[in-house]
Amino acid sequence: MQDNSNRQEIITMTNIEKVYKMGSNILKALDNVNLTIYKGEYVAIVGPSGAGKSTLMNIIGCLDKPTDGEYILDGLNTKCSDNKLAEIRNKKIGFIFQNYNLLPKLNIFENVQLPMLYAGYSNKEMKERALEAIKKVGLETHLKHRPSELSGGQMQRVAIARALVGDPQIILADEPTGALDSKTGREVLGMLTELNNEGNTIIMITHDKEIAAYAKRMVTVRDGKITSDTLNEKEVGA
Ligand SMILES: Nc1ncnc2c1ncn2[C@@H]1O[C@H](COP(=O)(O)OP(=O)(O)O)[C@@H](O)[C@H]1O
Ligand SMILES: [Mg+2]
Repeated sequence: MQDNSNRQEIITMTNIEKVYKMGSNILKALDNVNLTIYKGEYVAIVGPSGAGKSTLMNIIGCLDKPTDGEYILDGLNTKCSDNKLAEIRNKKIGFIFQNYNLLPKLNIFENVQLPMLYAGYSNKEMKERALEAIKKVGLETHLKHRPSELSGGQMQRVAIARALVGDPQIILADEPTGALDSKTGREVLGMLTELNNEGNTIIMITHDKEIAAYAKRMVTVRDGKITSDTLNEKEVGA
């Protein structure tokens, strides 16, 4: 067992339920989920298709609300108006998606500045921060490129820079290597490990146990329930 007494809770979920109603059908996508994640952890959430991973990720990322239960994110109760929830999301979470979700008409430099648009940064600050984040993923020579001019691995590096730029409390990655070949995927996973070594809290959703092995802790979801929660003996790439 880990001694958690000195660790800062960043996510505290208590009795979370998510019910989808389709006509007279009721589907419990999350059933009494209890989950605590601490600052600086690298957690993989794994489970087969239909297990409830995306539902859980949407709630963790404040993209959706539970039907029941309590979710405290970095000390804030997320039971609030949609506007307030969007503000919390913008401030606290950096997202990395399987398909990168970059805006095709914007160049790399502009894409990375997007999360800061409504966060009260000055223009100069936005540019400085974006440049710093882009340098971190090694793409400072590609500032003016559009996403379509980059490889999949480069696009995911841009997405990592975009996730980092607002200095979020949590980086939430949904199948971050799902669209990449295995070598490029390993590079992206190496980058996530490095970010975690620098103190970032990372939550990665994946259906692939080999990829989950890069994280330090593995939470398994099945039929809407957490069925196991273990520390990885020795994470890959460490
Ligand atoms: N918007 C929705 N409306 C109705 N049912 C949904 C919705 N989203 C997900 N579900 C159902 O909830 C269950 C969990 O889905 P999901 O969270 O997407 O699982 P996973 O990401 O692990 O594949 C599935 O049975 C799925 O069909
Ligand atoms: Mg899913």
